[in-house]
Amino acid sequence: MTGRTCLAFVALAVALAAALPLDQDAPTQVHINLGDNEGTSMVVSWITNAATDGYVQFGTDPDHLDSSADQMEKAYRYNFRSTYSPEVYTSGLIHHANMTGLEPNTQYFYRCGGKQGTSTTFNFTTPPPLGSVEEPLYIAMIGDLGQTTDSISTLDHIRADFEAHITVLVGDLSYADSAEQNEPTRNCTQKRWDSWGQIVEPYFAYQPLMVLPGNHEVEQVGPLPATQEQFLAYQSRFRMPSPSSGSNSGNLYYSFNIGPAHYIMLNSYMDFNHSDPQYMWLEEDLRKVDRTVTPWVVCNMHAPWYNSDVHHHDEYEETAMRASMEDLLHQYRVDFVFSGHVHAYERMYPTYNNKTDPTGTTYINIGDGGNREGPAEGYFPQPEWSAYREPVFGHGRLALFNATHAHFTWHKNVDSEPVVSDDVWVIKSESGTRHVGPKFDGGHIKRQYGHKTERAGPILA
Ligand SMILES: [Fe+2]
Repeated sequence: MTGRTCLAFVALAVALAAALPLDQDAPTQVHINLGDNEGTSMVVSWITNAATDGYVQFGTDPDHLDSSADQMEKAYRYNFRSTYSPEVYTSGLIHHANMTGLEPNTQYFYRCGGKQGTSTTFNFTTPPPLGSVEEPLYIAMIGDLGQTTDSISTLDHIRADFEAHITVLVGDLSYADSAEQNEPTRNCTQKRWDSWGQIVEPYFAYQPLMVLPGNHEVEQVGPLPATQEQFLAYQSRFRMPSPSSGSNSGNLYYSFNIGPAHYIMLNSYMDFNHSDPQYMWLEEDLRKVDRTVTPWVVCNMHAPWYNSDVHHHDEYEETAMRASMEDLLHQYRVDFVFSGHVHAYERMYPTYNNKTDPTGTTYINIGDGGNREGPAEGYFPQPEWSAYREPVFGHGRLALFNATHAHFTWHKNVDSEPVVSDDVWVIKSESGTRHVGPKFDGGHIKRQYGHKTERAGPILA
């Protein structure tokens, strides 16, 4: 190549580079979650092909994103190999950044990325102040989501008419650990994590998603050379606020406060006996809860302790975890336990030690998000603690109106419409907890959904 040709080549290369779109490696799979225990920060996660730098710009004015934060840690990839395939999956570069110093009840705008491209501008609204019982807190509850048209119907229904402050997903997210239905061996097709990330971005780039691990997140697939590290993808792709709750487990078990509620996220698929770290952490976490600040305590895990469906009945993670932990939850008067795993909705009356008990906990199974395994049809005769059950896909809506009154509705997917099928008020008093409904209208609490424009009625207690 002559000197002149070389210069011409360089000039052409520069011109081509200048013509490349700015978003040549823009973020994908963007989602957010609460970043601490106080409700003052929000973590955003995203994936790039090759861009290693990363930051988030945010602010209350979409035209002037005047705050910024660099990514929390160096962007990284993980490798995954299953027993049954020679192919090694390598993830994209995973980024996490934390937007701190946020005010409650405030709409923020943000975009994430780096020098090789940024995302579109997303927005979210922060939850009410910690401890507030003067305005309702709205939480969408789902489980066993998967990535089917039913999954999307569920997400569409949540977004359409319920402005939840957060969505809680009680395990079994992408179903990446089994490539095809009825496949005898689990291939762990990690690309399904990427398709799931793209499916949920339109929802959870705008609303915090809080997750816990289910059996489909374990992903340990047999002898070497398979990847031996359990929960590898789940641990890599999220940054839940574990450190602020004193958990050093990554995303495996942790807690967070939001408005008037203390939320606890447990792991059914790691040790839970009294001498195990998860139990000891839970005991300490419950001991530290200040009920004058967070009058509601909501515990969540994947495998249900109470359920009358014939599917997944009396599995070890259900019976042994209940045997280990139920007394502790009862001692601290935990209000709700949400679980999934069984792909059907079921609400239990306040229950303790296998009997209805006003000092017990309201158990709700919400493993009906819409995954490809289908609804779990078939029941045992209905136990006295089982209040309502139905094997149809859908989602739950929990509204905490004040320190004593919660309203829970379950919405099933019927012909693409969210139809209210269970409707109950959970009311606490000195004598215990009772379920009232569906005719009870909340007394002089106004039943309002749409937290950006409406406010609750007077406080009852
Ligand atoms: Fe499950």
